[in-house]
Amino acid sequence: MSAEKFKHIPHPNPTPEAERRKLLAEGNFGKVFSDHMFLMDYDPEKGWHDGRLEARRPFALDPASLVLHYGQEIFEGMKAFKGPDGTVTVFRPEANGQRLAASARRLAMPEMPVETFVSAIDALVQKDSAWVPEAEGHSLYLRPFMIAHDAFLGVKPAERYLFAVIASPVGNYFAKPTVDVWVTERYTRAAPGGTGEAKCGGNYAGGLVAQREAYSQKCDQVLFLDSTQGHFVEEMGGMNVMFVRKDGSVVTPPLDGTILRGITRNSLLTLGRDMGLNMREEPVDINELFEAAAAGDVVEAFACGTAAAVSPIGRLKRTPGEGDKAGRRTEAVFGDGATPGPVTMKLKKALLDVQRGR
Ligand code: COI
Repeated sequence: MSAEKFKHIPHPNPTPEAERRKLLAEGNFGKVFSDHMFLMDYDPEKGWHDGRLEARRPFALDPASLVLHYGQEIFEGMKAFKGPDGTVTVFRPEANGQRLAASARRLAMPEMPVETFVSAIDALVQKDSAWVPEAEGHSLYLRPFMIAHDAFLGVKPAERYLFAVIASPVGNYFAKPTVDVWVTERYTRAAPGGTGEAKCGGNYAGGLVAQREAYSQKCDQVLFLDSTQGHFVEEMGGMNVMFVRKDGSVVTPPLDGTILRGITRNSLLTLGRDMGLNMREEPVDINELFEAAAAGDVVEAFACGTAAAVSPIGRLKRTPGEGDKAGRRTEAVFGDGATPGPVTMKLKKALLDVQRGR
């Protein structure tokens, strides 16, 4: 299905250019939205149908809609970039389409064909291409999502769904050059057999209380440990994580079903290998990590995700231990705790260069 096949419902009141330019310059994450959205419906009789572009507006949903009660919802995060010649490109949209389909299978929702997904993204990006920022580190963040909207209070997979894509011009996810991260030992994010690998709203909702715990500890993000043994690093509140050893190798926890299959994570593993770096997917024991950071054996850490891109981590913090854990380290500092490390910055640049078509 090509992007031109969708219906275009004219916007009654598009944002005037001067106002749009002002909004584009703001660069806050996820606060400003483009003029249009893409919508498509699903029902068992017609399958996916009635793809359309229209003015972005609030939805009218029946208060009994399944998504409001049981959270049958999945989403994606992706970005469109402006290249040096002004061309707009979307980064790896097929990978997002495939991941949305995998999330749909896990949440008992209908899969959208990857080709239809990519055409929907293309249609919105073409329509709102004037909303793609030019500034370095800025992009048009795309948020495709799918919700169940049968009006029914029984617990069962819905029959009717809405797929939508909205767009938001964004700058950096974090406003600081390095972020501090709180290691929560009170909350976990995912368990084997659960939904950890799917990109569903519920995973993020369950992490919010831990994110609040991180804020109360003056940290910017939270890091989750595994739910079985409680000492292996999994992922952060909204992004994957990587560590750089003194020998230049880069380590990230392996995908074991409880960690989101980050597309940026995957791109960095490939780019790093192309650059000759030793990129490793192996379990990271949190206690060994704190010791290795203190010994100078782990020298950098960074968050990676579509929204976060590559965001350097200055420190990890955790609660002091009790009993036989008393005296354990409570802080892991990377470098001077405030300056992004060289391997992190090399990977960040390599990723951005590909994304911006350089
Ligand atoms: C993304 O990186 O696109 C996400 O969906 C994560 C969210 C915290 C913004």
